[in-house]
Amino acid sequence: MKIAITGSDGQLGRALQDALCETHTLLPLPRRAFDITDRANISKLAALEPDLVIQCAAMTNVDGAARDPVTAFRVNAFGTQNIALACQQCRAALLYVSTNEVFDGTKHAPYLEHDAVNPINVYGKSKLAGEWYTQHLLEKFYIVRTAWLYGKGGGKFPDKILELARRETALSVVRDEIGSPTYAPDLANAIAQLIHTEQYGIYHLVNAGACSRYEWAIEILRQANVPRPVKPIRLAEYRRASSPPPNGALENFAAATMLNISLRSWQDALRAYFEK
Ligand SMILES: NC(=O)c1ccc[n+]([C@@H]2O[C@H](COP(=O)([O-])OP(=O)(O)OC[C@H]3O[C@@H](n4cnc5c(N)ncnc54)[C@H](OP(=O)(O)O)[C@@H]3O)[C@@H](O)[C@H]2O)c1
Repeated sequence: MKIAITGSDGQLGRALQDALCETHTLLPLPRRAFDITDRANISKLAALEPDLVIQCAAMTNVDGAARDPVTAFRVNAFGTQNIALACQQCRAALLYVSTNEVFDGTKHAPYLEHDAVNPINVYGKSKLAGEWYTQHLLEKFYIVRTAWLYGKGGGKFPDKILELARRETALSVVRDEIGSPTYAPDLANAIAQLIHTEQYGIYHLVNAGACSRYEWAIEILRQANVPRPVKPIRLAEYRRASSPPPNGALENFAAATMLNISLRSWQDALRAYFEK
């Protein structure tokens, strides 16, 4: 397949290139060469005639999105609209990467693909708008929701916890925010399997299991062999611009049940991250 990847210099974009480069012809589209908010890029992308576009480009700074909703919608909603229109022009399929933050977090179990969406922050609303354009403009689409993504050079939660542990003798971490930590290369491998199925629809692709930020931090420090006391604090005590869904855990129900695509546990994935 000829596959275009937007936001190809990002954490997932790079993991996807590693996962797909041997079996597909890739068209990486980094932000500096291809801004998804530029409408002139609609026809430029269509002219490349990809079979599939993987839309990874996004404003992923959740607190930044809360402070600047217009940019969040410009990129995550209208940028995705542009990509969907390009796919419409060249009849390509679209795989749109979305987020657990489309849910409000009040469910007392992990969210399934068909649970009702109800985002409570700007980032979630802008990403849901991207889902809307994907679903309404195209027939051939995959919407892949993921959560708490981390990987090589991403500077995400595991790196931040270890950085904090280097500077502080004790850490305070939120205990009432739940999610599904997901290793970017594992997600990329699952996407590599999904795109062969042509089983279009909505999927939750996350490492199996769920934990609080507090439990995640403890496991990171344990696996990295950096013993530090960790104090559990409440979300309300941690000041930030955006409010995350309290329970943002996702369950991979559709792909595991229908397509036999599943990801290992989040603890095993973390081990693989440290081993690399
Ligand atoms: N990270 C998470 O925890 C998480 C969780 C759930 C879902 N997701 C979704 O997963 C996808 C990949 O996330 P990621 O972790 O790989 O994020 P990332 O590392 O921040 O990558 C996003 C990429 O998009 C680029 N970008 C931003 N605005 C753009 C624009 N206007 N045009 C073109 N490119 C643009 C960024 O470039 P710059 O770096 O130059 O800005 C960056 O290279 C996103 O759709 C995100 O919403 C992420």
